[in-house]
Order: sequence, then C-alpha cells, then structure tokens
Amino acid sequence: MLRLSNPSCALVLSAALMAAGCVSEHVSTSSAGALAAQEAGAFLPEDIHSLARPNEVRVTHVDLDLKLDFEAKRLVGEARLELRRFDREAPLVLDTQALRISAVLGEDGGLREYELGPSQGRLGQALSIQLEPDDEVVYVRYSTTPEGEALQWLAPEQTAGGQQPFLFTQGQAILTRSWIPLQDSPGVRVSYSARIDCPAELTPVMSAESRGQSDAGVSAGRSLHSFSLDLPIPSYLIALAVGDLEKSDVSERCAIWAEPSVLPLAASEFEDTESMIVAAEGLFGDYRWGRYDVLVLPPAFPYGGMENPLLTFATPTVLAGDKSLVALIAHELAHSWSGNLVTNATWSDFWLNEGFTVYFEKRIMELVYGAERADMERALDWDGLQGELADLEPWQTVLHIDLAGHHPDDGFSGVPYDKGNLFLMRLEEIVGRPALDEFLGNWFEAHAFESVTTADFVQFLADELPGGHAGIDLQNWLESPGLPDDAPRTETPILAAVDAEREALLGGKAAAELDAGEWNTQAWLRFLKRLPTEPGSVPMAELDAAFELTAAGNSEILAAWLELSIRQDYGPAYGRLEEFLMTVGRRKFLSPLYGALMESPAGAQRAKAIYANARPRYHAVSAQTLDGIVK
Ligand code: BES
Ligand code: ZN
Repeated sequence: MLRLSNPSCALVLSAALMAAGCVSEHVSTSSAGALAAQEAGAFLPEDIHSLARPNEVRVTHVDLDLKLDFEAKRLVGEARLELRRFDREAPLVLDTQALRISAVLGEDGGLREYELGPSQGRLGQALSIQLEPDDEVVYVRYSTTPEGEALQWLAPEQTAGGQQPFLFTQGQAILTRSWIPLQDSPGVRVSYSARIDCPAELTPVMSAESRGQSDAGVSAGRSLHSFSLDLPIPSYLIALAVGDLEKSDVSERCAIWAEPSVLPLAASEFEDTESMIVAAEGLFGDYRWGRYDVLVLPPAFPYGGMENPLLTFATPTVLAGDKSLVALIAHELAHSWSGNLVTNATWSDFWLNEGFTVYFEKRIMELVYGAERADMERALDWDGLQGELADLEPWQTVLHIDLAGHHPDDGFSGVPYDKGNLFLMRLEEIVGRPALDEFLGNWFEAHAFESVTTADFVQFLADELPGGHAGIDLQNWLESPGLPDDAPRTETPILAAVDAEREALLGGKAAAELDAGEWNTQAWLRFLKRLPTEPGSVPMAELDAAFELTAAGNSEILAAWLELSIRQDYGPAYGRLEEFLMTVGRRKFLSPLYGALMESPAGAQRAKAIYANARPRYHAVSAQTLDGIVK
C-alpha cells in the first residue's frame, strides 16, 4: 500500500466498517441463531469491531499448540476451538488479521472447507468455516506473519541482557486476532490452554496458570511449556511473553518476573504488591484469580501496563527506584475486578473498564501510601484531562463513545480514564463512600465473569443505588461531550506550595533558591507540567544546573522535562531526548515528544530523522499512532 497517496487509516477503516454493515445483518435478532442464543440467555450485543458471529456459533475454549520461530519471527501451529452452536446451519466465523491459514480439520481428522473473506482494513479478515452436523470442535492450522499487529519480536539489543531475543503479545483492543484465529470480541469469553514450544534457554509466561515443562517430543535445544486458565476471559486478555526471564517471590501468591539484570530493582520497586492486593480485597471483594504476578518487559513495550490476568505486563520505565510510579501496579491490579472480572461488552463501553479502574487505583493508593499521595495523583490527572479535552474532537470526549467508523484506538484518551473516574467520584460525593463501596462490591459480584454494557450499568445503578441514580445527570455524564460542571476537583496544600514556587521562579527567583528540597515525583510533575511553553519564558539552563533534570532517572520527570526542552529549544537536552526516543517504546511518552518536535520546522526535521531509525524498534501500536504525528 502506498502510504502517502492513500486515504487515511480512519477512512479505510470506515469503508471497512460500512462493508461490515452487511455482516451485522447476519447477527440481527431475527436470525435463528440469535433467537437460540437469546433463549439460552447468551445473546451478545453487536460488536462493530469484530467480524465474528458468536450468536450463531460461539467459541467457548481455545487450546493452542504453538512453536516459536525467532529466525522467521513467526508462530506456527494449531488452535483447537470448542464450540457452542446456536444455529446448526450457520458456519463458524472467526476474526483473523494477517494470519496464514493452512488447513481446518474436524475432530475426525477430516478437512473442513473454509474461506478467508476480503481484508477489512485493521479489522482483518473473517474466516468462515463450514461445519459438519456433528462438529463441536475444529482445528485451525496457521502461522502468524510480520504484518500481525499484536506480536513484537525484539532483537537481543532491545533487551536488558543483550544476549537473547524476546517476544511479547499485546491483545487489547482488537489485536489478538493477529496471533490466534478466534472470535475477537470482548463479549465472547473463553477458557484457554496452551503448549508453547520454544528455545530451551528462554522462558515463556502466559496470562494463565503454569502447568509445567516437558521436553518430550520436542527437538534438541527446545522445550515445551504448558499453561491453562479455566476461568472465562475475553480474547484480548490472552497473552504470551518469551525471553530470558526469572522470578522473585513477593508473597505466596505474588511474584515479579523480569530479565535477570532487571529483577533486583523490579522486585524491590514492587515489594508492596501483596499489600495492594490485600487493600483491594478489603475494598471490593476477594481476588478471584489465584496468583497475581507482574512481568517487567523491555522498554519497547508500548503501554505503561496491561492487565493480563494472573500476569500484569509492565513497562520498565516505572522502575524509578523510589516506588514513586507504582500507581501503575495499583491500576493493573484493580483491573482484576474492573475489566477482567466485569468486562466491557463492546469498545464503546471501555470507560466501564478504565474509569472504574482509575477510581479503584486511587483508593488502593490511598490505603497503601496515604491520602496525600492519592490526592496529588488525582490533581495531576485533572490537569492532564483538561489538556486533552482542549485537543480532542467533541465526539471523543463522550464517556459512552460512538465508535461507528472508527478503530477502538481512536477512542483512546484520558476521557474514559479520568472523566470516568470523576463520574464515580461524583457518585461518591452524592451517596457517601460506604454506600458507593457497597454498590461497587455488589456490581463486581453480580456481574462476575460477564461482559457488560453501559446500559447494564445504568440499570444496576437505578436498581441498587437509587440515590446516586437520582442525584446525577446521567445523560450529561455518559452521553454528552466535555466535562460536567459538577466534576469534583482535587487540590492539595503541597501542590499549592509548588505552584507558588513556580510563580516565584517566573517572577525572577533563582532556580537554586527554589524551596524544592522536599518535593516528591508528583510535586515535580506538577511543577514541570505547569511551566509555560513560550520559548524563552523558562530559565532552562538554571533549572538544569540546580536539579540535573536532563539526567533525571525518573521517566515521568524526564519525559516532562524533555517535552518542555523541545518547546524551549533547550539544546543540551537533545542528546538525552534522542536516546530516550531510540530506546523507549511507550506511546504515552513518545506521542507528546514527537508532537512537540513537529511544531517547529527544525524540530520536524529532527523528528523525522530519529523516527526513521526508531520506527522499526516500536510496537505496531506506537508506530500506528506516530505515523499520524510524524508525517
Ligand atoms: N488496559 C490498559 C492498556 C490498554 C488500553 C491497552 C486500551 C490497549 C488498549 C491498561 O490498564 C492501562 O490503562 N495502562 C495505562 C497505565 C495506567 C496507570 C493508566 C498505560 O499504559 O499508560
Ligand atoms: Zn487500565
């Protein structure tokens, strides 16, 4: 595809989604399958981001046999899919993206006819399989390709150890279809099991229980690891990582995984994880998944964290050495309730995952690190949301977002997170903390292992928290753009003092004289992010001399400083900027840095030169976004 002369991805996708309109006819409520699904109490709402037809034939269990080929950068193997057939005439329809399908078989070993539909942009291709009357299981033989968006294959240079390659998957939102042919919709829940055949010197880990290692039947120098998860999860939570990994126990049910050279720092940074689990259980009910482990990935990981069940994936950029960025763990842990136990049924309901999780995360932080820290983080989120609201299009600022014609990623912003959190904080203000806590505990209990819509939540609110339902303007909060006037704002005395120091600096006080000796990371972030961007308005060299900001080891402080440095055209920071852009793949940091560079002609030149080198090192998620920024 010629990137420059073609319509934007959004347009390609919207054409695809219009074409997918004919797919939705097949899942309309009047089809035989949909009626049967309704009768069985298993009817799923339409998901415009999946080509599958789970109301006709539904996958209930996925069993994987996969062999890793690091040279060819592909997975080769077979997915055995267990089915529930609501419409015995209907084909099985799966999602795939950039997969090579070699055969489909029944339990009897006989071949089944199949067809890969036309490519529908980033939605991928439907795989339709003609079933025999008695088929309750099919086997899909396939391999992945380099165009698959979930997998990132890292060269040894991109790891801490520098000796071994690394592989990880990122499934959310609709990327699992690029490494497993399945029904890639968050409404469809499956249990899963897997056998992973990989080089013996590497260790695979998954979002499942480990079932041990057996080297029988694999070639020399290889080993076979088994996994299974009996609890039903949405496809986006199936995850795999493979590398030179070791673990360090935090408690009986919790361990930290990382490359050996990173493990000591990671284990001490996250040593409070068990306390966080205990705090979370006290708030909203038992932890239902057995183990809670954290895997620290190489810096190319495109997100801060990903709540893969039993095994959170985390960026190493939160290893600050002083636990100042561990809210990320509180956040991913909170998803064990909001997201993994009770899951958004479609990507328009994403705020039910993230808004609840941010609210829950702050509550955990409050219990483990105190109210002051939690309030400072709430205040930083407020500023961040205000900044984003100014830049987003109105439709993107609606909590219950209409994604027709859009990829789920187009709805990704601070809105589902922070506006969602403010909605729950407002409910808390209205009904009081004890009542809201009880309500949320009931919500997780009542809908455990279910996928839910915004309408389900509104109904539950009306039934279970009538005072809250009556006290808040739901139409305004859930369906309208912008931030309602009754959004509760958090401020703290420490941050007010930081603001005063900022004003003093801008009024001429020497940087070295600033009263910053006691500032924690959150105070520094408030200070840096509120400095003016107009070139020449901030004494950059003076600040750098006093506080060594270009050499900051804390990634959040460094990223804020580098962004300011670009806008202030502070030359001494450019070396560190380039090094950061070449090693870190976390989109949250990359987008604003490249965005700031693109604001000036000289910066744009710099951005393009760096991006040309760095892009092959970024995950598809980050590259996709940055392609739209570095044009
Ligand atoms: N589930 C998200 C990450 C995600 C969202 C991946 C949508 C793909 C699509 C995860 O829980 C998350 O929110 N991570 C945040 C960290 C958090 C502390 C706000 C991140 O990665 O920045
Ligand atoms: Zn999240």
